[in-house]
Amino acid sequence: LRPTHRLLSYPGPVAADLKREEQSSRNVETGSEDKTPKKKFSEVQKERREQAQRTVLIHCPSKISEKKFLKYLSQHGPISNHFFYESFGLYAVVEFCQKESVTSLQNVTRTPSMDTEAAIPFKSRFFNVKMKNPSNQTSEQPCIQCSNHTPPSSKKLSELLCYAESIDDQLNTLLKEFQLTEEDIKLRYLTCSLIEDLAAAYFQDCIVRPFGSSVNSFGKLGCDLDMFLDLGEIGKFNTNKTSGNFLMEFQVKNVSSERIATQKILSVIGECLDHFGPGCVGVQKILNARCPLVRFSHQASGFQCDLTTNNRIALKSSELLYIYGALDSRVRALVFCIRCWARAHSLTSSIPGSWITNFSLTMMVIFFLQRRSPPILPTLDYLKTLAGAEDKCIIEGHNCTFVSDLNRIKPSGNTETLESLLKEFFEYFGNFAFNKNSINIRQGREQNKPESSPLHIQNPFETSLNISKNVNQSQLQKFVDLARESAWILSQEDKDRPSPSSNRPWGLATLLLPSVVNSVSLAKKKKKKPASERIKNLLESIKSSSPENDTNTNGK
Ligand code: CTP
Ligand code: MG
Repeated sequence: LRPTHRLLSYPGPVAADLKREEQSSRNVETGSEDKTPKKKFSEVQKERREQAQRTVLIHCPSKISEKKFLKYLSQHGPISNHFFYESFGLYAVVEFCQKESVTSLQNVTRTPSMDTEAAIPFKSRFFNVKMKNPSNQTSEQPCIQCSNHTPPSSKKLSELLCYAESIDDQLNTLLKEFQLTEEDIKLRYLTCSLIEDLAAAYFQDCIVRPFGSSVNSFGKLGCDLDMFLDLGEIGKFNTNKTSGNFLMEFQVKNVSSERIATQKILSVIGECLDHFGPGCVGVQKILNARCPLVRFSHQASGFQCDLTTNNRIALKSSELLYIYGALDSRVRALVFCIRCWARAHSLTSSIPGSWITNFSLTMMVIFFLQRRSPPILPTLDYLKTLAGAEDKCIIEGHNCTFVSDLNRIKPSGNTETLESLLKEFFEYFGNFAFNKNSINIRQGREQNKPESSPLHIQNPFETSLNISKNVNQSQLQKFVDLARESAWILSQEDKDRPSPSSNRPWGLATLLLPSVVNSVSLAKKKKKKPASERIKNLLESIKSSSPENDTNTNGK
């Protein structure tokens, strides 16, 4: 169960600052819609991490006086930003200007004493605030204004899509509604930072870094939070730091393999989260997986978290996706659309299994955009040729070098519309020779499949790995069938588009309703009526059924 995040804002000066910042950075991190210079992935990571370190998470009583609360906290130093959200209770995310303010606040915070229960005195940056005298605090306080940051319901979404002016407009609407908000991103970095505090109790100077869709600009509201414990150079021989006649080494415990070391580290962090981690519940240690992990739920933020270790390559692939997402505004719009489409038709699921993952779908979109003429996205090999000396990166023997400065990459001259790209995407993959070809974004062209998995998408850095090895033939077939049918529906659009004043779903809306494709498929097989008639009937039947439960696009 995912709690809903309802963000509450107060129209005071601090909230006004937030609004400005929110507007200026609405298009997540990349600034891709405006002409501002695009930030490097590493710069964004550094800024966000530093921001999170001077931020605290506070569980508040629902009747709190925001003004007094902020004034009270300001005793520890100026606040640069704050927002409220609801997630089984009211929470405040408060960002101080300086890190010292957090220490100052921690110094006046007590560990609760309870009559029947015992507390483990772990001093984190996650607090609980109580009102000493609730009655005199609430009287003059108006209701805190609420703004809702959950993805739109299916009903709201179909309305929004219905009123859009074009299919391109529909895709951009979908992106706007589902992309992570500024506050959601802040909460993701804060959650990692809180976990880092815990892990640092064992491994001093470790870093917990978010990766995957939380940072690669393709995350949908409600997606999981992937993070990894970066132990950096801890324990590794570093010649730069040695001088003189002696060489100092830490006394360490030795285990027989890197994998066992990873399992031991994750095991202890898992225990730590379970026993001492405030708000960390449902901790599961999945240590026998190819990539061992600890899965848990961070109750206060509502995020489902996957913690791994030694995952620098995955961070590099997040950076690569971030670059692709920032290069052209059509990329994210198309990826979000395909992710929502796949979710709506149960091609993807939040449960692991033999279905296609969002990561694989993103790779397929990137590959497709590399195949356009002229290409919309460059190949990874080309990005490697643009790399400077500072970009050189070899991880565990794999060459992960590519350009990090987005401004060095020339924009594409391709002017295709999103509508045409969407149609072409479905046609391209509806007819792709999956039986013999592999998808390869490094070279931007099909390769012969090196093994017999039904779907083969080469991992761009660990090139011997297939990122879609889990996908079975029937799931691939389902994808192909739906792609073909969606291409067909889009090709009928011109004839059937309703007038703007009618409330009928059209364009993308028809593609996101599972019943349409299934019924269209049936209708097509029966071949009883002309296409326009069939679509009209289908749309009527959708209108009469409740849209509320049809499209579950809220998951990942
Ligand atoms: N990853 C990978 N190879 C895989 C699966 C995942 O390299 N076979 C890496 C990718 O960098 C991916 C990250 O692990 O982005 C997180 O995986 P996952 O959570 O499955 O995908 P996300 O991209 O985060 O998408 P979602 O929104 O579905 O979580
Ligand atoms: Mg993820």
